[in-house]
Formats: sequence, structure tokens, C-alpha cells
Amino acid sequence: MSAPNKSFDPVEVEALKPEVIDRAKDEALAAIAGAGDLEALREVKAAHAGDRAPLALANREIGALPPHAKAEAGKRVGQARGAVGQALKLRQEELERERDERVLVEEAVDVTLPHDRVPAGARHPLTTFSERVEDIFVAMGYEVAEGPEVEAEWFNFDALNIAPDHPARTMQDTFFVRAGGDAKDEGESGVVLRTHTSPVQIRTLLDREPPVYVICPGRVFRTDELDATHTPVFTQVELLAVDEGLTMADLKGTLDHMVRELFGEGVHTRLRPNYFPFTEPSAEMDMVCYRCHGESVGNPDNPCRTCSSEGWIELGGCGMVNPRVLTACGVDPEKYSGFAFGFGIERMMMFRHNVEDMRDMVEGDVRFTRPFGMEI
Ligand code: DAH
Repeated sequence: MSAPNKSFDPVEVEALKPEVIDRAKDEALAAIAGAGDLEALREVKAAHAGDRAPLALANREIGALPPHAKAEAGKRVGQARGAVGQALKLRQEELERERDERVLVEEAVDVTLPHDRVPAGARHPLTTFSERVEDIFVAMGYEVAEGPEVEAEWFNFDALNIAPDHPARTMQDTFFVRAGGDAKDEGESGVVLRTHTSPVQIRTLLDREPPVYVICPGRVFRTDELDATHTPVFTQVELLAVDEGLTMADLKGTLDHMVRELFGEGVHTRLRPNYFPFTEPSAEMDMVCYRCHGESVGNPDNPCRTCSSEGWIELGGCGMVNPRVLTACGVDPEKYSGFAFGFGIERMMMFRHNVEDMRDMVEGDVRFTRPFGMEI
């Protein structure tokens, strides 16, 4: 910096010549206009508006001018610096706007794009519900037993004391895979798609020594048309207990425990006499309606859709294992007794979840299964 000019010395200061200042200003404005992004503009700002910029240096020289020249030089430098500052500000705003617009475009997410991720699958409610039933018994020490879906006629009928002239054996109910003759044992037997899970009882008794406590879930087949209340393929759960000293009271207690676990406290069962060839005595088992607990019976003001105001819901069949079945499996009926029951999972799910049409359970539409959620 030059020394203060107090002596009116008509000094010529190169940096303050109008053309030099104009040039510095023009160069600054050109550099500002040429800055392509905010980073470049920052450098331009340092070079043309910083402490060491030509116009800043020129400003410091004003003091070297004679007093009469100071005002004009000051005005010139001030205007130049003002113009540069203003240009910087405008360019800064312009570049920020451009950046913001670019970011909006580059980081935009098109929420209308179809996504191609495969949604996580879930197991079918029939499967998870069967397992829930199994779990109740596994917790009590039962084992899960399974048998083939394509079954020897002997297991499916004969060994269960279902005589060859039993209506269930006619072509009406049974899918025959290979017709058999009058089977005396498994070897000469025809082959069917099992019509119930009861043949697993036979396989289990042939396989193990009592005491036997098994729960047998599985698919069964009958020549029914698919409609709102029938399906030719459905799911049953069978239970078999064979031990010394088992009575119908054990059966009843077991059934009550199961429905309590599935439907909650206060739900219990009743038995109605019935006939099944493989149990003696046999019974139909009903459970008290878990919704109205029987309170809708004879109460037209408060009808129950779940049990049609009957108070009871029919579950399936049960009874004490017929001694003829025990004998056919080589179990001494003098020493052992057993109880058994079997019921359909689809039917139970229909009233458990107010499913009105059984076809919904078998057609595989995820709109039906989704509300059941994901259960691993
Ligand atoms: N198997 C029978 C059916 O499918 C149901 C059944 C009844 C199973 C009585 C049993 C029982 O174990 O004891 O219709």
C-alpha cells in the first residue's frame, strides 16, 4: 500500500486508473458468469472479491491519491466492487436454484413404477390351524403320526371293521385307484385315496406297542362335488390313544381340553350316541358355541350366526376303539382299551373364522389367505 498522500502530490496510481479498474471489474464479471457450479463460483469469489483481489488491492491505494482525486477513485472502485458483489450474489442464487432443480430430478422416486419384488409367502391357514391342533396334543406328550394318502383298501376299510358292503365303500364316496377283491389282508387289497385319516390308527398300532398316543393330521379324499360346504379334498385330524384302563371319561376330558385350548375358557363338549364301525361305543361330538355359549337358544332377540342359534356346533366322530380293531392290529383288547376321534379342519375353520364358502379355502386366492397373516 502506498503511504497517505497528504501533500496533494498529484500521484498517478496505476491500480486506480479507470481503465485498470474497469478491466478488473470486467474480468470479475466474466469469471462470475463463467462459473459453472457453486464450487467454481467460490473460487471466483476468492479471486475477484477476496482480500487479495485486484479491486480490493486498488481500494487500498486510494489513500495515496491527492484529496481531490480520492472521491472519484473511491466512487469508481466502490461501484466496481458493488457490481462484482451484486453479480456474485445473483450468480450464487442462480446456481443454487439450478442445483436444487437438479437434485429434485436426480433424486426423484417414481412411486407409480410397478415393483417386481416377489411378496413373502405364507403358509395356508389350513396348515397352520392343523398345526395348532397338533401342538395342543404334542404338549400333552402325544406324537404326530402320518400315513399315505394313496392307501390300501384294507387299511382304509377292512382293518377298521368297515365291511365290504358298507356304503362308504361304494363307488359313490371313494376314489378307487385299483379295485381289489375280497381282501383278507393288506396284500390282496385294492388301492384307494384314503377317505379318512383313521387308517393311520391301524398303521400306528401295527407299528408300535401300547401305550400309544398319536395325533394324525392329513388330507383325505371323497367323491364329492366342490360346493360351498363340500370339497373332494379336505383335511382331517385324527387322534388315537391306546393304553391300559382308558375310558370314555378320558375321551371326554381330552375333547374338552382341546376345545378350550382352541376356543377359550368356558367352551366344552357333549357326546351324542352314534355309530362308527371302528369304535364301540361311538359318539358324535359337539362343542358348545364359542360365540353365544348357548345363550342364543330360544332367544330370537339375540340370534347367533355361528351356531344358527342351536347352541352347539357339531365337530366330528369319536368313541372307544372297537376291540375288533385292536385285535386286527394284534393288540390284546382284554388288556388295553383306547379312544379315538376325528374331525374336519375345513369345517372347524368355517365357523372359527366365519368362512361362508369352503371353496375359498381350496382355490388358492391370496385375498382369502392374506387376512390370516404370516405364521411361520
Ligand atoms: N373317520 C371318521 C370319518 O371320517 C371320523 C371318525 C369317527 C374318526 C370316529 C374317529 C372316530 O377316530 O373314533 O367320518
